[in-house]
Amino acid sequence: MKAIIITKPGGPEVLQLADRPIPEYAQNEVLVKVKAAGINRPDVSQRKGHYPPPAWASPDIPGLEIAGVIEAVGSEISNWKIGDSVCALVSGGGYAEYCNVPEGQCLPIPGKLSFIEAASLPETFFTVWNNVFDRGKLRPGESLLVHGGSSGIGVAAIQMAGAMGATVYVTAGSDNKCRFCENLGASRAVNYKTEDFEGALHQLTEGNGIDVILDMIGGDYTPKNIRSLANDGRLILINTMNGKDVAIDLSLVMRKRLSITGSTLRNRDAAFKSDIARNLEKFIWPYLVSGEIKPVVYGVFPASEAAEAHSLMESSEHIGKIILDFGAF
Ligand SMILES: NC(=O)c1ccc[n+]([C@@H]2O[C@H](COP(=O)([O-])OP(=O)(O)OC[C@H]3O[C@@H](n4cnc5c(N)ncnc54)[C@H](OP(=O)(O)O)[C@@H]3O)[C@@H](O)[C@H]2O)c1
Repeated sequence: MKAIIITKPGGPEVLQLADRPIPEYAQNEVLVKVKAAGINRPDVSQRKGHYPPPAWASPDIPGLEIAGVIEAVGSEISNWKIGDSVCALVSGGGYAEYCNVPEGQCLPIPGKLSFIEAASLPETFFTVWNNVFDRGKLRPGESLLVHGGSSGIGVAAIQMAGAMGATVYVTAGSDNKCRFCENLGASRAVNYKTEDFEGALHQLTEGNGIDVILDMIGGDYTPKNIRSLANDGRLILINTMNGKDVAIDLSLVMRKRLSITGSTLRNRDAAFKSDIARNLEKFIWPYLVSGEIKPVVYGVFPASEAAEAHSLMESSEHIGKIILDFGAF
């Protein structure tokens, strides 16, 4: 099969098209003929050599999410059959013509979405569900602040939290991105380059603070996040793009009864990911079928142009998701 591999740690140019054997699939796995694969910021970190894949994943084929058609099924599979169209969360190996997936990590393609649109969903929707709803316990009527509102994670979080009855605030790096996030359902987007988000949120919540903050920035944002949380607020970290070492006022954690948590999805086992998949199918997929939640696809590249697609992601120009099209293979 054709695959995009990381030839060595480095810039986008280290992504190269290569021939690889079609992966083996276990008794509890399906083999998917990939039509489209989503790109995520963790793929960029892996390409640079900063985010090694877990032992059970492909060592050099990146890619955490796919959509395609089931080509073969393991002997224990009863929920899927050959010919089913699915999208799926994988631990690596997604930038390839074929990918093996634990059956529980597959989801039906919602409604009439295309393979390209469906490939934009798994990584961000699993991550947001796990962090905002499972760990953050966001409830209807509460408020959520999402940093990086125009990211793939951000556009999923705005829509999922909105559909579940929360008020969503975001930060983003341009007025254009802010307007996009507001059109997608954010009550207010703060351009962090021209406005102090802490002051803006203080005003917007009339000093009451935010119930849940989903943060991928860390670093200098952390003391501001702590000050911006409401009593019993929850800060959830999914990355530390501005740095991992911070000083915070721990007395605020006590006085406001705050919870600080975080997680990484990729290294969790198939049972854990399957549980998230079933919750998504039950609680979020109906909104995708009805069109209340929409995929946000910014750019589509032929798979052979994976390097260009990574360059676009690193420019941070995009809003939403960037997808590789494997339809030509
Ligand atoms: N823990 C997990 O399980 C997990 C899973 C998936 C993703 N993640 C993390 O979630 C984040 C979003 O992922 P994604 O795939 O949605 O990314 P993405 O679409 O590339 O979006 C990242 C956005 O963050 C903003 N940003 C703010 N400060 C930044 C900085 N210092 N460096 C780079 N970008 C910065 C940029 O927009 P502005 O113009 O607004 O600055 C950029 O477009 C990433 O950090 C990723 O590693 C974590």
